[in-house]
This record gives sequence, structure tokens and C-alpha cells, in this order.
Amino acid sequence: HNQDNQDVISANEWLTKLYHHLLRHSKDGKEAYQYLINRGFTEESINTFQLGFAPNSKDFTAQFLEKKGFHLQQMVKAGLLSAKEDQGVTDRFRGRVMFPIRNHLGKTIAFGGRALNGQEPKYLNSPESDLFRKGTMLYNFDLARPHIRREQEVVLFEGYVDVISAYNAGIQNGVATLGTSITEAQAKLLRRYVDQVTICYDGDEAGIQASFKAAKLLKQVGCMVKVSHLTNGLDPDEFIQTYGAERFKNEIIKASDTYTSFMMRYIKKDYNLKLEGDRIQYVEKVLDEIALIEKPIEREHYLKELSNEFNLSMDTLTLEIEARLQKLG
Ligand code: UTP
Ligand code: MN
Ligand code: MN
Ligand code: MN
Ligand code: MN
Repeated sequence: HNQDNQDVISANEWLTKLYHHLLRHSKDGKEAYQYLINRGFTEESINTFQLGFAPNSKDFTAQFLEKKGFHLQQMVKAGLLSAKEDQGVTDRFRGRVMFPIRNHLGKTIAFGGRALNGQEPKYLNSPESDLFRKGTMLYNFDLARPHIRREQEVVLFEGYVDVISAYNAGIQNGVATLGTSITEAQAKLLRRYVDQVTICYDGDEAGIQASFKAAKLLKQVGCMVKVSHLTNGLDPDEFIQTYGAERFKNEIIKASDTYTSFMMRYIKKDYNLKLEGDRIQYVEKVLDEIALIEKPIEREHYLKELSNEFNLSMDTLTLEIEARLQKLG
């Protein structure tokens, strides 16, 4: 198994170099390179993240790997090639911009390939294997680690494009969960390195839903959580391309909501606060969240907010909190 993994890493590393070279220096790679430049990627980031181009060919990659002496069936299993009965072993990634996915040591263990001209699927990733388990790793953790340590904070994105876009905007402590919602293993991995996590998922319904799950889970493992607030369904990359790096840093990252503010806003969606019954239910739910706050000053801050918004006395709200704390033990 170990030797198998070493072979697959070696193939992924060769292809990282090959695809990057083709992006930079081949005629076919020009369109892909231009695509990245048009999306606002800097040349420096294209090099740092070793972005590449897999040519639109039936067997370019297959022939390359064969010449290097790799076992083609093993490459099929690793998701670098595909095998169809009628055509033999052929290339799996064709005409795609290639994002190498690196492990914590900086070695490529998988690829994400993005279509250039609206082909489906938009993103094609290497399949899961014991070498590449999406749920146990974080994209860009290797490069972000020193920045995470220095800043004592990590920014969590949905995908590699957002990480690279944020990097271009000067945010180097970004990692991504690769499209899936964060797992417990990923949350614990982050917790080992940092107290403060800022969740910066897409501003669409799916992203808000995923932010809620991630916030709960990260809080559970003991992180201090903030959640950024992207509106109009924009994702971080789109915000940066539209409004620029400075506004992204000031209005999105620095201005992130606290965990409790996010929860209050999130819970609010389900209620019509013009109705008395809904108002009471909403206040009850928010009190459940406030009861979880450990710092007395912070707790009082949100109680005052509730008190003002719903015209309830602090005494009543404090009683409600005490009742909840007794239940929690
Ligand atoms: P999104 O669906 O938000 O990507 O997935 P996007 O922002 O529309 O992509 P662009 O900007 O047009 O290129 C977010 C991330 O989830 C991963 C990718 O890492 C992507 O960047 N993803 C998404 C996959 O791995 N596979 C998928 O099928 C979809
Ligand atoms: Mn999304
Ligand atoms: Mn997105
Ligand atoms: Mn999308
Ligand atoms: Mn996007």
C-alpha cells in the first residue's frame, strides 16, 4: 500500500510539473492561461499554486505516464486516467485548468480540474482513495500554516478558487474544505493550530447553510468562530473581482459577525417577527444560544440587544438564562 501511494504521489508530482509547463509554454495552454488572467489570477499566484493545463487529448497524459514507467492500471485507480472497454486506457482530465491539491507536506496527491468552456461537470476532481480523503484534509494547509500561526487565525473557504483569489488579495491564511461542508476531522485539525476561525463560505443559500453547520461544529471542538457576511449570493472570489481587495478585507473579513450575531441572523430567517407568537419563539431560540456564551460581558451585550429589540426587561431575560444554565448543569 505504501509503495502504491508513493507511486501515485510521484505521478501526481510529475503531472503537476508537466501541466504547469504546458499552461505557461504551450500553444494549447495559452487559452487556459488567459482564462486565469481574465479571472484576476496574478502570474505569481499561478506559479505559487502550480496551476496547470491538461490538454484536450485522448491519450497525452497516458503516454507521458507510460513513458515514465508508471503502471497504467494503477493510474486509472488513482483517477489520473480512465479505462473504457472499447478505447483502452485514456486521459481523464481533458482541456481543463488543473489545480494541484497538496497534502500537508506540499506534495500533490490529487487534482481539481475546471472546465474552460462550460463543459460539464464544471469541476472534475480526483476520486477519493486512502491517499486522498477530502474529509480529512484542507486545501492549502501547507502554505497557509506559517501565516495561520503568525496571525493566530485561519480563514475557511469553500473552494480552491476562493483561496487563491483571497491570496491575491493579500490573505494568506486561507484554507478550503473543497466544496463539502467541514467534517469533524477537519475541525479538529484546525483546532490544533489555531483558536480563531473565520468562516467565509459563499453567500448563497447552500453557503449559508454550510456556514451554520461549520460554525456549530467548530464551536463544539473549542474554536472561537466568526462568520463573514457576503450578500446577493456572491462568493468570496466574485466579491474580490467586483469590489477589490481592500473592501474584501475591511467589509468582509474584518467585519465578520461573531458566532452569536450570525446565529441570531440565521435563526431570524425562519420567523416572521411581525407575529407575536413568532417573536416569542425567536427570542427563546436566541436565548438558547446566548446561554452558551461563557464570557459574562459578551452575554450581557447580546441580552441588551434582545432587550432593546423586543422591549423585554433585563431581569426577565436574565431569569431565562439562569433557567437554561441550570438545565445545562
Ligand atoms: P462552487 O460551486 O461554489 O464553485 O464550488 P464556483 O464558485 O461556482 O466555481 P467558479 O468560481 O465558477 O470556478 C466551490 C468549490 O467547491 C469545489 C471546488 O473546489 C470549488 O471551487 N467543487 C465544487 C468541487 O470540488 N466539485 C464540484 O462539483 C463543485
Ligand atoms: Mn458554492
Ligand atoms: Mn463559489
Ligand atoms: Mn457555483
Ligand atoms: Mn466562484
